[in-house]
Amino acid sequence: MCRPEASYNRKVTQSASSPIDADSSTWWRDSVFYQIYPRSFADGNGDGAGDLVGVRQRLDYLRDLGVDAIWLSPFYRSPMADGGYDVADPCDVDPMFGTLTDFDEMLSAAHLRGIRVTIDIVPNHFSEQHPWFQEALAAAPGSAARERFIFRDGRGAHGELPPNNWPSVFGGPAWHRVADGARTETPEAGGEQWYLHIFAPEQPDLNWANPEVPAEFERIMRFWLDRGVDGFRIDVAHSMAKPRGLPDMDQTILAAAGAGLPHHLDPRWDQDDVHDHHRGFRRILDSYPGERMAVGEAWVADDERLARYVRGDELHLTFNFKLVEAEWDATELREAIDMSLTAMRGVGSPATWVLSNHDVVRHVTRYGGGQIGLARARAAALLQLSLPGAVYIYNGDELGLPNVELPDWALQDPTWERSGHTDRGRDGERVPLPWSGSRPPFGFGAESSWLPMPPEWAALTVEAQSKDRHSTLAFYREAIARRRELRSLHTPTFEWSDHGPDVIAYRRGSILVVLNAGTTQVALPAGDIVIASEPLSAEGQLPPNAAVWLAPKG
Ligand code: GLC
Repeated sequence: MCRPEASYNRKVTQSASSPIDADSSTWWRDSVFYQIYPRSFADGNGDGAGDLVGVRQRLDYLRDLGVDAIWLSPFYRSPMADGGYDVADPCDVDPMFGTLTDFDEMLSAAHLRGIRVTIDIVPNHFSEQHPWFQEALAAAPGSAARERFIFRDGRGAHGELPPNNWPSVFGGPAWHRVADGARTETPEAGGEQWYLHIFAPEQPDLNWANPEVPAEFERIMRFWLDRGVDGFRIDVAHSMAKPRGLPDMDQTILAAAGAGLPHHLDPRWDQDDVHDHHRGFRRILDSYPGERMAVGEAWVADDERLARYVRGDELHLTFNFKLVEAEWDATELREAIDMSLTAMRGVGSPATWVLSNHDVVRHVTRYGGGQIGLARARAAALLQLSLPGAVYIYNGDELGLPNVELPDWALQDPTWERSGHTDRGRDGERVPLPWSGSRPPFGFGAESSWLPMPPEWAALTVEAQSKDRHSTLAFYREAIARRRELRSLHTPTFEWSDHGPDVIAYRRGSILVVLNAGTTQVALPAGDIVIASEPLSAEGQLPPNAAVWLAPKG
């Protein structure tokens, strides 16, 4: 449980020598954030799993890449039933990742390099190993300990049926039955109450209607804010509030769960009361100096409803997942951009552009894989880095990493088991980064890595790409550096430009961005090339699957 440490009362944001300007307001509006999946980013102790010492050791790499901030996925104490999103102690570091001292050292080393540090918090659920849940299991139905979670009696003559028909995101029902103070794997065999878990059974949902829960999260946030973190990524920010009475899901919604229906019609998501909790988070953040921020992971398809998460007194940013969902198609990409910009315009918050993360197939693979997938991914990076707003790069995007087809034995994501081995889950996008050398684990781990790395990644290591000025890494470094210099990319101005149906083109002040999503090369207007994702043709035309930033000739 989170208790501020008596000896630890460092109400500081940045050390005196930090190049971060503590007063720079709204830094988050156009920052380039870099998502670190700690288990897969860098391995400091050679045990095959990434850790916080590894992060510290690679900060110069991130500085050279040019990122403004990092977001660390969970590194808290966890039995790892869901890659750390099952948090057993939100105020301590899991031994797999190191210690609180390692965290503090990494944080000050990042600040010294001018890199801000934001971290994940997971408010929808705890791990079943969290002391609160252990207490709840041992306590009687109706007890205060059970009121922190969502326990209900079952339906049926003997309570043998789940309390409602909600499915879990990872497959199977969203309810699990307890017996003799423990989770039971055979619910029908008899027992007592059921508890809700929208994700894995190891992730019991918290009851946010109980004031003890927001109070505990205030302690958690303050614990990390006091240590100096610059903000949070709020995990499943659209899920904490549940509808009164936990009604059954309508059959049509049940049949389509997760498949494109407006999320607020699904009672598990986007309930109006969730916004009270975000206002609470904002009050906590605003009570600290230095513009501490929060970005929400809200998978909310409806633009107007998504914008509610970033109203003036709620979160600062919310991911716009439309780009993640768009196919490689000019109309879809254009619509994704349009909808994201329109959604945010009404509330004055910037859009937040994502192409990949630890939950979705990497975009090199989504765009077709191989050389074409990579070319498209590089072109898409020039969109992402030139659109108005904040950018989130997922570790490995800058190396052009594709998803990996892993063998069955290697799979660890709960989705694989819970779907009865029909859905391979998200491990393919979580394979560790290749740093150096010519054989797996490529400088990650002494002998092996927690997920196996493909031998063909020898060409994709940081070491190999650093020596090649045409590499994807060199391209990312260049694009981020140009983005930093070009003032017009840091204003909200945006204007579509028409160059035909297969071309996405827009002006950002004096800069014209052109992406060719068609199959034939296209002529470019006069201008100086700031950066291109591929060489232009001999006639100066933009090839298919490529993008360019053009400045006025001069
Ligand atoms: C978020 C995380 C995902 C996790 C889920 C449950 O969607 O990004 O990895 O499984 O929340 O915490």
